[in-house]
Amino acid sequence: MKTNTELARRLGLETTIVQGPFGGGYSTARLAAVVSASGGGLGSFGAHHLAPTAIIDTARSIRSLTGKPFGLNLWVSNRDYEGALPQEDIRRMITRLAPCFRELGLEPPATSPLGNRIESFEGQAQAVIEARPAVFSFVFGVPPAEVLRACRPRGILTIGAATTLDEAKALAEADVDAIVASGLEAEGHRPSFLARAEDSLMGVMSLTPQIVNAVRVPVIAAGGIADRRGVVAAMQLGAQAVQVGTAFLACEESGAPELHRNLLFGPSAQRTLLSRASSGRLARGIRNRLHDELSGGNLLPYPLQGWVTALLRQAALERGREDLIALWCGQSASLLRFRRAGELLAALAS
Ligand SMILES: Cc1cc2nc3c(=O)[nH]c(=O)nc-3n(C[C@H](O)[C@H](O)[C@H](O)COP(=O)(O)O)c2cc1C
Repeated sequence: MKTNTELARRLGLETTIVQGPFGGGYSTARLAAVVSASGGGLGSFGAHHLAPTAIIDTARSIRSLTGKPFGLNLWVSNRDYEGALPQEDIRRMITRLAPCFRELGLEPPATSPLGNRIESFEGQAQAVIEARPAVFSFVFGVPPAEVLRACRPRGILTIGAATTLDEAKALAEADVDAIVASGLEAEGHRPSFLARAEDSLMGVMSLTPQIVNAVRVPVIAAGGIADRRGVVAAMQLGAQAVQVGTAFLACEESGAPELHRNLLFGPSAQRTLLSRASSGRLARGIRNRLHDELSGGNLLPYPLQGWVTALLRQAALERGREDLIALWCGQSASLLRFRRAGELLAALAS
């Protein structure tokens, strides 16, 4: 099997394995560094939740651990509502979840707790460009032309993500350097940006070769790849690298809490579903009570739904209540074997 692909050569990688970026605090500098340094893969850090200064600090932390190439990742679009916060809707959602708050010993907040800040993509992108990682990857859209233009002279490779052929073509037209074919098997959010995520559900086996045929830039297959067989299959389909998420999230170097990591190895990880309940955008995770409580009613737009469900998170984690937190998980969890990223990478690349 070809490991010396154009993409691997351009990035100076020894393997064709990309550790999927995890936003929202699930990435760590240590995980990215282990993947980039010890195994010659591409470690990545999901930074969409970070302020520009924290993005610069993150790059510095990774560089303090390795001199090898790594990627930083952002979300081009990070809100699904315009104007003022819909306070009434937020209060209704809190009321709906009141029994869950009480079970955790929490009083449902009387007023909207949502003072959170939504970072602007432009400000974050400037920070990534300043930090100058080997790779700037992004989901949920195509960055403005000036952002992509600024990357090239600085030697930053740009990678967009597509869930359909149309999205891949839009990214190729914008002149990105590589495209992730994001299959519906993947854990976490469906990063669709041209049509509704629910109408853009393609499996990696179908999506990857179609994008390979349609664009001239290297394609990275993502979704459901958790062992060597998946890597070989994706490369046979024409991918120049694979992006692995769930299997790295399960490793002790990831930012996932121990409770979450352990569940990925258990039977409940075989029951995943795509739902908007956790964050307001369609995402794959282990089905639990949180989804069931919220099925069949209106949800808040992203990121407000996630801000409300996150109010339960700390208390649920402290009480070991896996039924009341978002547990991101892809469809191939039953293939997981490794709890250390170096061992996983070696097995994927062997
Ligand atoms: C907790 C979590 C957060 C994620 N955040 C991002 C993100 O911010 N940006 C991104 O491009 N992909 C994100 N992903 C997707 C992964 O990088 C990867 O593409 C996907 O998990 C691959 O599918 P697999 O899980 O089946 O291996 C996330 C996945 C998880 C589980």
